[in-house]
Amino acid sequence: ERASSSMYRFPVLPVRGIPLTNHIANNWDAIWAFRPDPSDILIATYPKAGTTWTQEIIDLLRHNGDADACKRAPTPARSPFLEIFSPPPIPSGIDLMKDMDPPRIIKTHLPLQLVPPAFWENKCKTIYVARNAKDNMVSYYHFDCMNKTQPEPGPWEGYIPKFMRGELSWGSWYDHVKGYWMEREKRNILYLFYEDMKENPRREVERIMKYLDLSLSDEVISRIVELTSFEIMKENPMANYSCIPELVFDKSISPFMRKGQVGDWRNHFTPEQSKMFDEDYEKKMKDVNMPFRTLI
Ligand code: A3P
Repeated sequence: ERASSSMYRFPVLPVRGIPLTNHIANNWDAIWAFRPDPSDILIATYPKAGTTWTQEIIDLLRHNGDADACKRAPTPARSPFLEIFSPPPIPSGIDLMKDMDPPRIIKTHLPLQLVPPAFWENKCKTIYVARNAKDNMVSYYHFDCMNKTQPEPGPWEGYIPKFMRGELSWGSWYDHVKGYWMEREKRNILYLFYEDMKENPRREVERIMKYLDLSLSDEVISRIVELTSFEIMKENPMANYSCIPELVFDKSISPFMRKGQVGDWRNHFTPEQSKMFDEDYEKKMKDVNMPFRTLI
């Protein structure tokens, strides 16, 4: 078990200064050259900000709330992960897209400057989801413990400075959330917050619906809100990542659908860690006025 775990933990390599797992970095030219269809929809997030939740909402919106249609395949097969490259025979995100008709709901964790330029040339609709730094880090920490393809997270107290220095896969959270925020108007990006989605899921589902130029009945919207609640998605085998083999996602360490809450950071940060983190956060985020909430 030990040997197999370490076999799977891929190292990261920098791509234009951003740490990415080696399989992604080694296939960078193909990713950068990817050309989406203008009808494709891009969901961009820093890892663990609510990607899967948003993928499920959009798939249901595009299928008029048809739960069975959205159980046709697991999330990564319904909504491909743009930059993912794993060792063969696992298909890459780009391979999967070759067999899918547009419009595709494409997931990415790439920071804005690494998104293939054809997405902007084709004016693809782009939805960004941001989650407050502390909860985002807690979720990423548990994910890195259980996902054997991610670099070894080490102990929690050492993970905080790695997050703060932007050394985790996909780089700095601070630069990521700011990069999309500053471009949201120019590039017509719908910018959402995980905390808003938890507070009032119906309001945020309706915002996504309008952004996608869809108009569904109140009843269908209610059904989508229900089907995308944490409790229902946690039990949905096509949305809870139970499709990933135990050797890759070790669910005895943590389930993919872990807690789905705002404020779990309070169970992880000591008061000292929280103070140190907040002081650094103020400095890193002082150039933007972003409405993040760490509690609702
Ligand atoms: P936690 O680890 O805090 O529970 P991503 O999909 O970007 O990897 O994000 C995963 C995080 O979103 C996990 O957070 C997961 O539990 C949470 N999540 C997934 N589906 C959700 C839902 N329907 N409602 C609320 N949170 C959800």
